[in-house]
Amino acid sequence: MLLQLNKVIDQDVLENIRRVLAGAKFVDGRLSAGAAAKRVKQNEEMDQHSQQAEYLDGLVMKQLAQNQTFRSAALPHKVSRPYFARYTQGMAYGDHIDDPVMGTGGERFRTDIAVTLFLNEPDRYDGGELVINTTFGQKKLKLPAGDAVLYPASSLHHVAEVTDGERLVAVLWIQSLVRDPAKRELLYELNLARETLLAQRPDAEETAHIDHTYVNLMRMWSEV
Ligand code: NI
Repeated sequence: MLLQLNKVIDQDVLENIRRVLAGAKFVDGRLSAGAAAKRVKQNEEMDQHSQQAEYLDGLVMKQLAQNQTFRSAALPHKVSRPYFARYTQGMAYGDHIDDPVMGTGGERFRTDIAVTLFLNEPDRYDGGELVINTTFGQKKLKLPAGDAVLYPASSLHHVAEVTDGERLVAVLWIQSLVRDPAKRELLYELNLARETLLAQRPDAEETAHIDHTYVNLMRMWSEV
């Protein structure tokens, strides 16, 4: 499932993030890429080990964690720290799939879901679309600042060349409690019905049936 989330990050937080990024140190994005991705990756990433990166990590995670749709679609078990990436004129990221396992030592996690958060407005740059291959064809995304897209990390995708201006995004990965994207999608849809029923008919028998089914499917399918 490819899911767009609107207004994940508030306007004042976005402005704060962009202010920090404007003064931050960026390094060649190939430093964080696997062998295959290195060949096609051309961007810059904020130094992950800086204090500023830690500060921005806190801002982004707080807003993501508050987003009900994100939680119910991703069912997050482990969430990576975000990478803050910048693409200026001539930069692109060719077709690739993301690394299957990330992190080091005890902090390793499987990447089930990839998330791109758009940090500046689409009219600030030309090109720079995130292009994701799905079973229903290619999907091109260039979303308003503050919006995000969630997609299976196994998807082949690329970032089109930025031909003018500057594209700012945060990208992160999630190990979901539910590994199979098809099962996650079923749970997401069932939860939409469950939440409506819990709000509108909390005492109805069918509400209890749907609620119990959701809860027990989560138990059946989740891995921790
Ligand atoms: Ni990628």
